[in-house]
Amino acid sequence: MNTLTVVHDLLRRQVRPGAFCIDATAGRGRDTALLCRLAGPAGRVLAFDIQPDAIRQTRELLAAEGLRAEVVQDSHANMAQYAAPGTVDCIVFNFGRLPGGDPHIFTTAATSLPAIDAGLALLRPGGVMALALYYGKENGYAERDAVLAHLRALDDRRFTVLACDWLNRRNDPPLPIFVWKDAN
Ligand SMILES: C[S@@+](CC[C@H](N)C(=O)[O-])C[C@H]1O[C@@H](n2cnc3c(N)ncnc32)[C@H](O)[C@@H]1O
Repeated sequence: MNTLTVVHDLLRRQVRPGAFCIDATAGRGRDTALLCRLAGPAGRVLAFDIQPDAIRQTRELLAAEGLRAEVVQDSHANMAQYAAPGTVDCIVFNFGRLPGGDPHIFTTAATSLPAIDAGLALLRPGGVMALALYYGKENGYAERDAVLAHLRALDDRRFTVLACDWLNRRNDPPLPIFVWKDAN
């Protein structure tokens, strides 16, 4: 059991055929591919990454698996330019750096917090945002602390936030976090 399996289990439960999903950090494309499979041919999947290498890897994975998504080289902070408010069923963030990629490119609070807010505005009531919050080692703790503080301050009349922790795991294991936009 790890953060990826917890997040993917929730996505399998939550994302239905025809869903509109966003992968905010495409990376190697594994989350994008899962969202494509869950949303099916009637669904729509948008994937963002700022790194050309990640865009290439994601497109290659989707092509190899016969899946289709709109893979956009842009910051997730700009996601509101690509979708209408209140229309998205599921948004996935996987913070940190691309495994094997440029070690100087990684998510930071400066864009992660605006991207979370943009994503929450895009979610439809009942929709979910799933975040795998990596931290520690080269990433440090600033982004983790800023994201947790930001989510803790969300209006509890509009959002439900669940942050999970691995209490007996060593070496800064990433945290699975879920934000539901409450139905009115
Ligand atoms: C941990 S990886 C994502 C792994 C991916 N979910 C997968 O399944 O392979 C984090 C990704 O976030 C990307 N990233 C960093 N800053 C970003 C930003 N502002 N907007 C979009 N992507 C960003 C990095 O380029 C990197 O590929």
